[in-house]
Amino acid sequence: DFAGDERVWRYSAALPFEAGVSLPEGGTQLHEVPRLEADLGVRNLRVKHEGMNPTGSFKDRGMTVGVRVAQELDVDRLACASTGNTSAALAAYGARAGLETLVLLPEGKVAAGKIAQASLHGARILEVEGNFDDCLDRVQDLANRGEAYLLNSLNPYRLEGQKTIGLEILERFRNEEGRFPDRIVLPVGNAGNTAALYKCFRELVQSGALAPGDVPKLTGVQAEGAAPMVEAIREGNDETRRWEEVETIATAIRIGNPVNAPKALPGIRETGGTAVAVSDEEITEAQRDLAGEGIGVEPASAASVAGLRKLVASGEVSTGEDVVCLTTGHLLKDPDAAAAAGNAPEGVPNGTDDILRHLAGKSVG
Ligand code: F0G
Repeated sequence: DFAGDERVWRYSAALPFEAGVSLPEGGTQLHEVPRLEADLGVRNLRVKHEGMNPTGSFKDRGMTVGVRVAQELDVDRLACASTGNTSAALAAYGARAGLETLVLLPEGKVAAGKIAQASLHGARILEVEGNFDDCLDRVQDLANRGEAYLLNSLNPYRLEGQKTIGLEILERFRNEEGRFPDRIVLPVGNAGNTAALYKCFRELVQSGALAPGDVPKLTGVQAEGAAPMVEAIREGNDETRRWEEVETIATAIRIGNPVNAPKALPGIRETGGTAVAVSDEEITEAQRDLAGEGIGVEPASAASVAGLRKLVASGEVSTGEDVVCLTTGHLLKDPDAAAAAGNAPEGVPNGTDDILRHLAGKSVG
């Protein structure tokens, strides 16, 4: 049971400290989604909703460890580049630790909820004339000049915390025959989470706790307009080509130069997984599908379900598989996208009879 304050930190044996700067994070629900499961046609489908972490995304799992390390190093200023969620998590965990935080965001491309979080938790917010990849270049320069401690997923301690997603999935899911999931499908931006899951499973195999054949197939999903990982998998490359122009409704994964690709590409290949790109329309459709099961996610998160649908349709994922889809961020992160994807409010007069006429489809007045 994940109740109580020990969630990520109940796995401290796999982490660099006994405890961290905690809100607390982890222990997220692994939802059954019977209608979606039947609709997609896989054997078992579960959705692990990482949007239920304290700041609404999986980044909290990495930040609880990363900020703890920053305390140990006695640094003056924490910094990250972000498409939004990392900045929200850094601002909150930095505030918790009483440290100064600086976030570099791509101007005009960060969802409203995420900026609101970074703002209220007291981060200094720099809106850079450029995309996320430019922001990451700049913040790496700042870190190299000793001006800040970098808390992007290039920081290996972030990935240590994010390994706990894999530990929770293995602890929580067994199919009818007592087996672990065949596949984990997740949205990919900078490929940090993919790298973290791969490290998690590698360590379990090396320690003898997991049979090599039981490692879930890591399956990454990107938006068509920002898909360098999909391109690298398709072409069999060990590195990604940097996409200078990127665009997608899923602003969280609007990334053209995934810095963790060298760690994540082998994870996808060696687990027998794959990578697939989905359109913005497919993402929005999947966002509605999840919402129809009561699970509210931001667009990037829905990419996992959109990708699974595509892979089942193409036959790359078999209908006998047990699959876990990760939904990485909460619906309220991007209220504009949610409102655009959902039902529009209908104006009515302030009168019960008028409202009943309206509901019956008759004109009011
Ligand atoms: N889903 C969401 C909601 C994200 O915010 C991110 C990354 C990803 C998926 C991709 O994860 O980078 O580990 O492959 N967001 C980062 C940020 C880039 O700045 O918040 P990844």
